[in-house]
Amino acid sequence: MSERFTVVEIISAKRDKHDLSDEQIDWVVDAYTRGVIADEQMSALLMAILLNGMNSREISRWTDAMIASGEKMSWSMLDRPTVDKHSTGGVGDKITLPLAPLVAACGAAVPQLSGRGLGHTGGTLDKLESIKGWKASLSNNEMLKVIQECGAVICAAGAGLAPADKKLYALRDVTGTVEAIPLIASSIMSKKIAEGTSALVLDVKTGSGAFMSDPKDAALLARTMVDLGKRAGVSTRALVTAMDVPLGLTAGNSLEIRETLEVLAGGGPSDVVELTLLLANEMLDAVGIKPKVSPADALKNGMAMDVWRKMIKAQGGDNDAPLPVAKEKIEIKADSSGKLLTLDALKVGISAWRLGAGRQKQGEVLQLGAGIEIHAKPGDIVKTGQKILTLHSDESARFDRAKEALVGAFSIGGVDDPIKRLPLVIERIEG
Ligand code: URA
Repeated sequence: MSERFTVVEIISAKRDKHDLSDEQIDWVVDAYTRGVIADEQMSALLMAILLNGMNSREISRWTDAMIASGEKMSWSMLDRPTVDKHSTGGVGDKITLPLAPLVAACGAAVPQLSGRGLGHTGGTLDKLESIKGWKASLSNNEMLKVIQECGAVICAAGAGLAPADKKLYALRDVTGTVEAIPLIASSIMSKKIAEGTSALVLDVKTGSGAFMSDPKDAALLARTMVDLGKRAGVSTRALVTAMDVPLGLTAGNSLEIRETLEVLAGGGPSDVVELTLLLANEMLDAVGIKPKVSPADALKNGMAMDVWRKMIKAQGGDNDAPLPVAKEKIEIKADSSGKLLTLDALKVGISAWRLGAGRQKQGEVLQLGAGIEIHAKPGDIVKTGQKILTLHSDESARFDRAKEALVGAFSIGGVDDPIKRLPLVIERIEG
């Protein structure tokens, strides 16, 4: 088949800071998905996009081209509106786990397509795989059955959904081209729009443990994604939230499931509960549901836990099986008394990753019990010798490198010193 463009002319145009035409974008995304464009050529184009950017028309067209590379799902057969949430990822960010069943318990349908951990950030599917028997991959029919029975499903995106993004994302991961707002926004939104949800709430993280450490960049990413959603007819809003400190008191797969169960039982750390309730209220509002039982009450009275147990069982999981526990653990203690002023999300995330909670390369098997328990957060008063962190791993040989990552991870000051951390919610952006 003769091709409409040559890729070198498109790479050169972006290198020289020209806008790409709709036709050029359609062709380049399609030709790469078909295998006509070599990885080294696409890498050059991605780097030119990272350096020179894209205007809003180019970003929309690039997103549409990625959607058109695969199937578009529909939930029109459901008797309730669909709403999804997406987080750009962080350390200890287990919010999807209590949130999806909670929002389902309050009356919406939640088709939650989730991912695996990348680098120091954890992945929802990896966390759920700590539950014996739980299955991440479902056919479209199985997904529909779970959502009809339970109101929520959390599973992996099928191979048919935005295949261009799968190929592009794998290439970006190994070519230093992940951190570009046009590429992140189009990658996330192509999957969410193709998933067919009627409304979407984005949790865009900022701080040391997030992709976008600067709140201004995070707000621009959020605005770009909200605009893409609006254009596609998906009611989209975003919260820019803190990821300078880990969320909750655990980072690691089975440790975070344990914390999720505490939240679903009406307890759990206050920041996890607060963010879960904020996002639940946003999701219900986005689809116009005024629940008879408030999300806060649905956590306390067991309604959300009932949906969780049903959903886990429907995906083959054994709710009553013990969760994996790491074979070894060590404690990191305070070397002075005073107020904990900082606790760095990136350092905790890297340390948990080195303990075996994350992968060094795609496809690697995780240690499901590995990770970090946090015993004090910024603002807490601590005493010399008090436990601050417990490190869990199956291999004690991992502890030295994990401890190295924690050098400077927390600081202790005087009881009157101000704590240095971002507010939980920094900005709210609506279309
Ligand atoms: N998550 C995605 O799905 N895509 C990106 O580009 C970044 C995070």
